[in-house]
Amino acid sequence: MTNGDLEMIAEHVDRPSFGTNVPDSDPRETMKHRTHDTPRLTIEPFGEKHLSERYVSWLHDPENMRWSENRFAKHTLESCREYMRSFDGSPNMFFAIVAKDPALGHFGNLTVYVEPRHGLADIGILIGDRAAWGKGYGREAWGAIQSALLEEPGIRKVTGGCVADNVGMVKVFEACGMVPDGRRVRQYVYEGREVDIVHYAIWRRT
Ligand SMILES: CC(C)(COP(=O)(O)OP(=O)(O)OC[C@H]1O[C@@H](n2cnc3c(N)ncnc32)[C@H](O)[C@@H]1OP(=O)(O)O)[C@@H](O)C(=O)NCCC(=O)NCCS
Repeated sequence: MTNGDLEMIAEHVDRPSFGTNVPDSDPRETMKHRTHDTPRLTIEPFGEKHLSERYVSWLHDPENMRWSENRFAKHTLESCREYMRSFDGSPNMFFAIVAKDPALGHFGNLTVYVEPRHGLADIGILIGDRAAWGKGYGREAWGAIQSALLEEPGIRKVTGGCVADNVGMVKVFEACGMVPDGRRVRQYVYEGREVDIVHYAIWRRT
């Protein structure tokens, strides 16, 4: 391998070649700071006003955390604030899912972890208020952010993953047009049982 080859590889790594136009400034900063509207939801950048005891209580709800690696952690307003701050200055995004119906208000959160060099965005979601489960909100929020990501210059693949037994989450992936993208067999132990982790993905149309 010559030095020329190495330079070409370095150039390729620094400036991924997917898409036609990858601007120098990070385009995801724009989407990250934007509010995304759906018929019933406002998905807005997570801020200080969303830090509440209601939010902390979702993280201590065993049903909510049933399939989450966070289920044994102790959460406080301060640990949630630190988590919020961990998104600052990164391409990763943190959104609050807020119902347009004021009686429901802020009832969940959504994260996006971005790997700019590979054009990857991985979404995670928590519908924290269990009274809101099974009403199509998960699908509505996921679908909106997935679509926005697939419009972003530089993003070529959007992914998600969960424990295979998380039926609601798998249904959300499939309803949003994602397809299976791999399975880690007997990966974790949940409730004394070995469980698989399933990955789903959707690609930007070229
Ligand atoms: C998984 C989760 C996001 C689903 O959100 P949701 O708003 O309840 O999902 P939707 O209402 O859009 O439902 C999608 C489908 O899943 C079904 N569903 C939802 N929760 C379900 C459950 N616990 N068991 C079985 N089916 C379920 C819905 O009935 C619906 O079915 P349909 O397509 O046949 O109508 C939500 O339950 C949640 O946040 N859970 C806790 C956190 C979590 O597990 N996050 C994912 C970790 S990666």
